[in-house]
Amino acid sequence: MCGIVGYIGKKEKLTKILSCLENLEYRGYDSSGIAYLKDNQINIVKKKGRISNLKDNLEESETTLAITHTRWATHGEPSDNNAHPHKIDKVTIVHNGIIENYLELKDKLQELGIKFKTETDTEVAAALLNKLYNDKKDVFEAILAFQKIARGSYAIGMLIEGDNNLYAIKKDSPLIIALAKDGYFIASDVPAILKETNRYITLEDLEFAKITENSLTVYNQNLETINYEVKVFESGVEQIDKGDFEHFMLKEIHEEDTVVKNTFNYYLEHLDEIPDITSYKKVEIISCGSAYNVGLLGKNLIEKYLDIPVNVQLASEYRYQKQFTNKDTLVIAISQSGETADTLAAVKLANKKGAKTLGIVNVKESSIARETSQVLYTKAGIEVAVATTKAYLSQLVVLIMLVYKSKKIRKELAEEEQLLNEIKELPKMIKELIERKDYYKIAESIYKNDDMYFIGRGIDYYIALEASLKMKEISYIHSESYAAGELKHGTISLIEENTPVIGVISNEDILEKTMSNIKETKSRGANITIITTEEITKSLDSDTNLIVVPKVNDLIEPILMIIPFQLLAYETAKLRGCDIDKPRNLAKSVTVE
Ligand code: AGP
Ligand code: GLU
Repeated sequence: MCGIVGYIGKKEKLTKILSCLENLEYRGYDSSGIAYLKDNQINIVKKKGRISNLKDNLEESETTLAITHTRWATHGEPSDNNAHPHKIDKVTIVHNGIIENYLELKDKLQELGIKFKTETDTEVAAALLNKLYNDKKDVFEAILAFQKIARGSYAIGMLIEGDNNLYAIKKDSPLIIALAKDGYFIASDVPAILKETNRYITLEDLEFAKITENSLTVYNQNLETINYEVKVFESGVEQIDKGDFEHFMLKEIHEEDTVVKNTFNYYLEHLDEIPDITSYKKVEIISCGSAYNVGLLGKNLIEKYLDIPVNVQLASEYRYQKQFTNKDTLVIAISQSGETADTLAAVKLANKKGAKTLGIVNVKESSIARETSQVLYTKAGIEVAVATTKAYLSQLVVLIMLVYKSKKIRKELAEEEQLLNEIKELPKMIKELIERKDYYKIAESIYKNDDMYFIGRGIDYYIALEASLKMKEISYIHSESYAAGELKHGTISLIEENTPVIGVISNEDILEKTMSNIKETKSRGANITIITTEEITKSLDSDTNLIVVPKVNDLIEPILMIIPFQLLAYETAKLRGCDIDKPRNLAKSVTVE
């Protein structure tokens, strides 16, 4: 999941190139580094920690050729030494991905006398490329041989001593090449270089490019040149800025009213773009993290309203379970980044099995958007905070629109008028929910705890899953989500005096049962908070911490229910002094398996 930016062209300040890299820091921030050409020498500076730390150790200079990298460590701890770029003899590279057979390759290279200085797989890739280049005396032959020998995923920016061109090599990890005014950039995604240009091409798997100061040539594995299509990235640059907000996450939560409005409006006006999922014998949803959690909400709504069984699987597990995917299956891949390696791999397998694959993706032209047979874009705009909020909500809207479409064409949409009116009212309700002050008070009562539980039944359990993930990933509190009825079968032993238990109750059918489960924890000292709808509050004890959410049609209620949890996590993390936009150990786009 690291971020790569490279540059070749007329003179460019190192700080300018690194400011592009900073736009990718959300992809990983364990360490960063730069290799740049100066006085015909390749200079390398690399430091553990944020890019600002690298900049503090870098001379004011400019260059015509550079590769830079911000790392999310997979092999080898975050350190100056393990930071990219890695140089072996003539070859210097930055790399996003995992060379899966790196140990076997490292042994063979060590037998040939090559000495390694780091624990990374990337240094092995550099050593292999260098050996192949020395053996074949030809860069292209060396790259082709590398592609046959190295297994795993890689987006590589490469410099070769004395060659002074920029090479880009791609397999499974994302890599784009942007055409700027006086040169070219390579990058892990387009937003990184959006301030320089919005014109770009996307390298496909096993393609590589040779880029000179004024030319770009893309090759396939037969060394045929590829006629690439230059695309224009639509989103604007302004979205990369925090504005007056303290954190991107808060800014993005405050955009949720607009995002929900835009996503509903677009798909209500383009119903024809939405497939009728009832025409498939089986529906599977495959995704990771929050996208998995929203997939479970989709399951609940599709089963409840369309009577179709839906199987939701973690993408990282999909390939290791017995799959029942076939040509009659609709596989829905949900991914904000569209680059999650686990989900991309699952989509490729589903395609191989003849399924129709439908992407619900936020980033245009991303790998999953291109790999799926059809894609429904969420209209969330660029999301920078590692913890997803507005994109999650936008994914939920698209899932709701899948139900809406199938109900509509069967003329089974009960209370359609009232539903559409409530959809129109949602942005106002969201705005009002976001501007409440309740969250801070509750955050104050829980932020010192080390453990926390979110419990609910049915769809509320699925909401609790996302509520818990949001809390733990930005506040570092160990939080668990539990089916409310399951807690008493063991985990309730962990409930102590003042343990926060947050109950999720969005409909009356399960009110009594969930309340019993909540009371079971309260009688053991738990500090209870309940997030529920206004109609239910009448049945609750007055001394309970309550966050009340407007009651709307069940089909769209989850949209409102999740927002208080996002803000509760935000306020709690802030009280704990956490790095909210870039939580430790995480990255926004997990492009390694
Ligand atoms: C969300 O807050 C997390 N950062 C993470 O779980 C994320 O949802 C997951 O990595 C999937 O990412 P994707 O939606 O880009 O595929
Ligand atoms: N596997 C490489 C390393 O650990 C790259 C990791 C990444 O893509 O984030 O340095």
